[in-house]
Amino acid sequence: MSRHSAASKILGSAFYVPPKIVTNDDLAERIDTSDEWIRQRTGIEERRYSGPEDTPAAMAEKASRKAVEQAGIDLSEVDTILVASLSPDHTFPGTSCFLQDRLGLPGTACMDIRNQCTGLLYSLATADAFIRSGQSKYVLVVGTEVHSTGLDFSDEGRDVTVLFGDGAAAVVVGPTEDPDRGFLAHCLHADGRGAKELWTPSPGSSVFPFRAPETMFEDRSVYPQMNGRAVFKHACTHVPEVIQEVLQKTGYALDDVDLLVPHQANMRINEMIGKQLGLPPEKVVHNIQRYGNTTAASIGIALHEAREDGRIQEGSLVLMAAFGSGFTWAASLVRF
Ligand code: UT7
Repeated sequence: MSRHSAASKILGSAFYVPPKIVTNDDLAERIDTSDEWIRQRTGIEERRYSGPEDTPAAMAEKASRKAVEQAGIDLSEVDTILVASLSPDHTFPGTSCFLQDRLGLPGTACMDIRNQCTGLLYSLATADAFIRSGQSKYVLVVGTEVHSTGLDFSDEGRDVTVLFGDGAAAVVVGPTEDPDRGFLAHCLHADGRGAKELWTPSPGSSVFPFRAPETMFEDRSVYPQMNGRAVFKHACTHVPEVIQEVLQKTGYALDDVDLLVPHQANMRINEMIGKQLGLPPEKVVHNIQRYGNTTAASIGIALHEAREDGRIQEGSLVLMAAFGSGFTWAASLVRF
């Protein structure tokens, strides 16, 4: 087998978004923003907000059950659960343990992966490596986020708040005998020098002396903070780079790729990346209009929608790529 033979493939996928739709106009009633500004700068038209019944683990369960059913395996065959989330149900333990309990799978390995917008790609790469090594056979990979309970709904937070939505996506990864079908390569990167360009400072164990929670609300350090321009610039540089890297690693050319499923942070970023690479617009998936940025869930939701509407079929060569907080960036190439 060559170095980039597939060992694992996507057996099933699904997503769940909460039913409550929040339009740009709805947000403009709460904060100083407008539908026009949000659409022009980001492409977002609406997003979903969850309620108490749709915690990250609860949404993950709904997506997971559907993905496992589609995979055609019994739930009890899942031996590993990987959950990517920057908005976990609780500080600890990880959401993977809460999800495992909901699914009724005591004893399965559970791991939370803290990689924000690249969380799903880091998790898929981990699942692939676990299967390749014989550590796992069927891995449930989930990206799930409830952003709406952690956003700053004052005018000060408007640059970040308008971008994010809630949702979950699940992917079941299992072994393959066909070296040409499945994950062909992953490229994972990070640069911690950018850690504070997109972060939520509090609460955190690095803060001494102990601070009363109300002070974190007073200085707004409990809300996500972003240097939007810096993130935009780095995304437009690193995503095309990592796409070229994963193609070089596998020997494929951009023309061979049937579809690019990028992280959904800003439609302008993805249009710019498509243009830089010379990809025709119909080969780049956008669904940010309907969901906003759902961080670890976004690639999973877009991937599943593209499978459902026929843009991804048996044999399709699909690139997934993301950039986000950390900074982290990643790409995966998969043949369906
Ligand atoms: O998945 C995580 C990764 N995140 C990203 O990839 C986000 C990357 N960054 C971006 O997408 C863009 O930087 C934003 C969409 C966040 C912002 O767009 P921008 O063109 O960089 O705007 P800006 O921050 O430079 O702000 C331009 C103006 C400012 O007003 P002045 O100073 O020109 O008067 C802001 O105060 O827009 C104002 N502004 C808003 N106006 C209405 C900022 N946020 C808003 C808002 N509504 N929500």
